[in-house]
Amino acid sequence: MRRESIELVQESFPRVAAIAPQAAALFYGRLFEIDPGSRRLFQRSDLDLQGQKLMATLGYLVGMLYRPESLVPAAQHLAQRHVGYGVTLAQYDSVGTALLWTLEQGLGEGFTPELRAAWVEVYSTLAEVMRAAATEAA
Ligand code: HEM
Repeated sequence: MRRESIELVQESFPRVAAIAPQAAALFYGRLFEIDPGSRRLFQRSDLDLQGQKLMATLGYLVGMLYRPESLVPAAQHLAQRHVGYGVTLAQYDSVGTALLWTLEQGLGEGFTPELRAAWVEVYSTLAEVMRAAATEAA
């Protein structure tokens, strides 16, 4: 991950956190549209609560981007729990697509091409670590 990407993503996070409740609703709506199969995984979930957890954890992981020694084990444990929820490797792409779309909706013009590229880089790296841990755990 490039240093500039980390900086851009960390700088943008307070703006993401400020719109977290709306962002979470947009996010799940979009996720279920692009990946209808994922809806089944959340059948018994309170999506407001789940959205809060997702945003809080995303913020926590984003805060650790400069500390891979803390970030990697946290992402690995999260990924292992996701194997138990029935999440597939391909669904990390669906979540990435829904997340980028949500950021675009939520941040509007503030979601510049540079910021988008930075989020793509950060999410891809995170998803790679999580998919590798999920593969080992499965
Ligand atoms: C960076 C990626 C992700 C982050 C930060 C994240 C975050 C979280 C968090 C914090 C929880 C709460 C439970 C826990 O901590 O174990 C959770 C649960 C869950 N996540 Fe994720 N997640 C990610 C990727 C995904 C993907 C790719 C899917 C697939 C659609 C998914 C589906 C679920 C489901 C089904 C639950 C359980 C819901 C429930 O118990 O009601 N997540 N996620």
